Amino acid sequence: MWLRRKDKPEPPFGMPLEPVVKPMGYSDINECWRLDQRCFSDGEAYDRETLRYLLSHNKSFCYKVISTSNEMLAFIIGMIEPDDTGHVVALGVAPEQRRKGFAMQLMDAVESSFLKSGITTVRLEVRTSNDGAQRLYAKLGYGIIRRMPHYYTSGDDGYLMVKYF
Ligand SMILES: CC(C)(COP(=O)(O)OP(=O)(O)OC[C@H]1O[C@@H](n2cnc3c(N)ncnc32)[C@H](O)[C@@H]1OP(=O)(O)O)[C@@H](O)C(=O)NCCC(=O)NCCS
Repeated sequence: MWLRRKDKPEPPFGMPLEPVVKPMGYSDINECWRLDQRCFSDGEAYDRETLRYLLSHNKSFCYKVISTSNEMLAFIIGMIEPDDTGHVVALGVAPEQRRKGFAMQLMDAVESSFLKSGITTVRLEVRTSNDGAQRLYAKLGYGIIRRMPHYYTSGDDGYLMVKYF
């Protein structure tokens, strides 16, 4: 029989026992915006208008990781582009929640959605200086296709990374 420790209070009905991946919708916009600001404090965070567009687009797949108290810990936004490629538009994990596998779980969720829609090529952009994210994507099978000079508004270069299923 499975017993809970007495010093660990039961979560309220309907709350998860551990962080879980759930679809993210338009109603999550404020929490997503706040988390995005924390993840991309370098000025590359999205404004509300862009997030509104992304979250309500009929070809976007958006997921979040929520804590046992329903707090957003991480999020991902993927979109099917007009050329029928999947595009990972944004991925962010709260700074204090990193290296727990949340980004891997979110990438899995978004890639599964792409695959179910018949998408066989997925692309994303990453700063050339963002070693951590590049390692994550390489682990998932993404390869660098080319360098994009001054891709970011800060003037930083980016890499285009692609995965073929
Ligand atoms: C990049 C980011 C999304 C990774 O999220 P995460 O939840 O910490 O990643 P995971 O725990 O799923 O990591 C999976 C694997 O990716 C690699 N990895 C992830 N972050 C890494 C880092 N900072 N340094 C080295 N490797 C890293 C590791 O191989 C890791 O496996 P391990 O922990 O067993 O070694 C997160 O650091 C983040 O939100 N950064 C700021 C925003 C950002 O850069 N987003 C991506 C823009 S393209």
